[in-house]
Amino acid sequence: MNDFLEKEECFNLLKKYGSPLYVYDEDTIRKRCKELVNLLPNKKLIVDYSFKANNNIELLKIIKSEGVHVDAMSPFELAFEKKVGYKSNEIMYVCNNISSSEMKEIIKENVLISVDSISQLETYGSLNPGGDIIVRFNPGVGSGHHEKVITGGKKTKFGVQREFIEDVKKIIEKYKLNLVGINQHIGSLFLNYNDFLEGVKNILEIAHEFNGLKIIDLGGGFGVPYHNEERLNLKKLSIELDKMISNFLESYDNKDVTFYIEPGRYIVAEAGIIIGSVTSIKENYNTNYLGCDIGFNTLMRPILYDSYHEIKVLQKEENDLKETYTVVGNICESGDILGSDRLLSKSCVDDAIIVYNAGAYGYSMASNYNLRCRPAEVLITSDHKDILIRKRDTLEGMLSNFIGE
Ligand code: LLP
Repeated sequence: MNDFLEKEECFNLLKKYGSPLYVYDEDTIRKRCKELVNLLPNKKLIVDYSFKANNNIELLKIIKSEGVHVDAMSPFELAFEKKVGYKSNEIMYVCNNISSSEMKEIIKENVLISVDSISQLETYGSLNPGGDIIVRFNPGVGSGHHEKVITGGKKTKFGVQREFIEDVKKIIEKYKLNLVGINQHIGSLFLNYNDFLEGVKNILEIAHEFNGLKIIDLGGGFGVPYHNEERLNLKKLSIELDKMISNFLESYDNKDVTFYIEPGRYIVAEAGIIIGSVTSIKENYNTNYLGCDIGFNTLMRPILYDSYHEIKVLQKEENDLKETYTVVGNICESGDILGSDRLLSKSCVDDAIIVYNAGAYGYSMASNYNLRCRPAEVLITSDHKDILIRKRDTLEGMLSNFIGE
């Protein structure tokens, strides 16, 4: 648990900015960026932050200042990134099933595009003959914390199957495209890196099928522990990866290949917490419920993937008592459960709670379900100041999309 705030500070932030609240720690983001930027000190490596994990512009400024590039999945992600000052050559558009009008729009932006099907390669070729392109392959292996986030292997829509390499070559030839690179992403959250390395081995074999690649993108998925798991051993991963890449380069025609990784979660997950307020305590058929204002509109991961997030009660009036609670939010669905059967400090209405590891796929997947506001986001800077970095939604904002309002 990354406790970067004292109890009193949490209560003060709730008073100042309202509840619930996303709070991020600048130091943690910088630390994680540095670890990855230095992952392969002897190789040409670019870290490409996967912006979907957390799309706050102020956090992206911090990430950019650490020398990290960025990927985009949609025109608005791209627009945000340009607003932060990213240049076209620092952005990779990793797309999936986009329309030809979106493809046209992105081609104009002059960023590298990765397509992940032969059909999309054909669309790209017809719109931009002679253009630079990256093709995403499915390395035949997947990994992830839940089946919904495994993006390699036999049960996923992503990537081009290795057996279709000849078809890729035909389309490249047909439109005289310049295949600048290939990429993969096997899924989200590995702590044991064996599957990742298996994917790397396979993508390097695929790379041998093409001459002169400038980029080989190994994807993201670098995990963080949410419960009691062991941390991802970056040191060991670095050694293994370095060896594999050295072996590959010995027999590859372009010794100057740049390798990319595309982490999202690793950079921001532990930097973010949600602080909320306890709103009710009740017993229902032998279960103690702790009701709070953090519904699944605020944090989707538990209801969507059964994800575990550590929870802590901050007692307004301290005692040493403990109680087992099922912690639930304020959304009208039975699945609105943040955590089941958690042994926590005994709680009363008006205590606060912290939900940890919420920096990745927290706010970026939040919604207005039940017409509840997405919370404000606050940054704790390296000199320990709190600054508002995104406002809470407002009624006016939500009404403004309706014609006539
Ligand atoms: N590259 C590509 C092409 C991706 O699709 C993703 C994530 C990443 C990189 C970054 O993956 P990461 O390093 O963050 O694991 N909403 C889910 C995670 C979905 C990930 C989607 N793609 C969650 O809350 O766990």
